[in-house]
Amino acid sequence: MLSFSVDRQKCTCCGQCALDCIVKIIAMDDGYPAISAEKESSCIECQHCLAVCPTGAVSILGRNPEESFPLAGNFPSPEEMEILIKGRRSVRQYRDENVKPELIQRLLDVSCHAPTGVNSRQVLFTVVDDKKIMAELRRETMEGLARLSREGKLPHGREYFNDCVRAWEEEGVDTIYRGAPHLIVASAPHDCPTPEADCLIALAYFELFAQSLGVGTVWFGLAKWTFTELVPELRGKLGIPENHLIGYVMGFGMPEVLYHRTVQREPARVARVSWPEK
Ligand SMILES: Cc1cc2nc3c(=O)[nH]c(=O)nc-3n(C[C@H](O)[C@H](O)[C@H](O)COP(=O)(O)O)c2cc1C
Repeated sequence: MLSFSVDRQKCTCCGQCALDCIVKIIAMDDGYPAISAEKESSCIECQHCLAVCPTGAVSILGRNPEESFPLAGNFPSPEEMEILIKGRRSVRQYRDENVKPELIQRLLDVSCHAPTGVNSRQVLFTVVDDKKIMAELRRETMEGLARLSREGKLPHGREYFNDCVRAWEEEGVDTIYRGAPHLIVASAPHDCPTPEADCLIALAYFELFAQSLGVGTVWFGLAKWTFTELVPELRGKLGIPENHLIGYVMGFGMPEVLYHRTVQREPARVARVSWPEK
C-alpha cells in the first residue's frame, strides 16, 4: 500500500507530481493527483511526488511532507561543496577512541539517502562500532594473512600482503586497517539491479558527510581483498549475508591528524565528444 494522499486544501492542481513521476502512475483525472490501485505496484517509492510538490500537499508511504527539510536556500554553497570535496583526505592516523554512537547513527541515516539503481535501497551497512571488536578483527586478519604468507599461499598479484604481515609482526604497524577504530562494509544482494555501484556511492556519501562532521575515513582496498579472496571466513564472522556482493570497505574514526589545506591536483582528464558527420 502506497498510502498516496493529497491535501486538497493545499493542492494547487499544478500537476508537478504527475510530471515528475518516473513511472507515470499519477493521474490528474478530476484535477487532483491520484494513483489507481492497479498502478500502485509500479511505484519505485522515490518520493519525488512528495519532494516536488510546491505546497507540501502530497503524502506517500505515510510520510508527512512537513517532516521533510525545506530546501530553498538550504543547500551548502558551491564553494563549501568544493572545499569539502577538495579538502577530504584519506585519514590514516586515528585517535584510539570510539566515535560516539549517535554520530555513527547519524552518518548511517544520512548515507542511506545515496541514490541506488531503480531506487532498490538494499545496501547493507555492516559496522564495527566498537574499537575492541575492531582489535579482534585486526588480530584475526593479521593471523589469517600471516598464515597465507608463511605457507606461500598468497595468490599472484597479492604479494604486497607479505609486507603488511611483516609491518604488523615486526613493527606493530597496521597497513590493512590503518589503525582505524571502526570499519564499515557496504554490501548489497547480488540480484538487485546495481549492487556494486549502490555500495560505492553510499560509501562516497558516507565519507563526505563524515568528513564534514570531523570524522576521518579511508577506503580499504586491502581489506576488501582480504574479505573476498584471502581470508573469506572473516566475511562470515562479520555477518555479511551470503547472497551479498561486498561493494567496498571503509575505515573511520576520530582523526589524529589535521590537514590545513587542500591538495592541488592536475586538471581533470576530459575527452570531448565530437560526433562524426555523416
Ligand atoms: C578504491 C580505493 C581503495 C583504496 N584502498 C586503500 C587502502 O587499502 N589503504 C589505504 O591506506 N588507502 C586506500 N585508498 C586511499 C587512496 O590511497 C587515496 O585516496 C589516495 O592516495 C589519494 O589520497 P586522498 O584520499 O587523501 O586524496 C583507497 C582509495 C580508493 C578510492
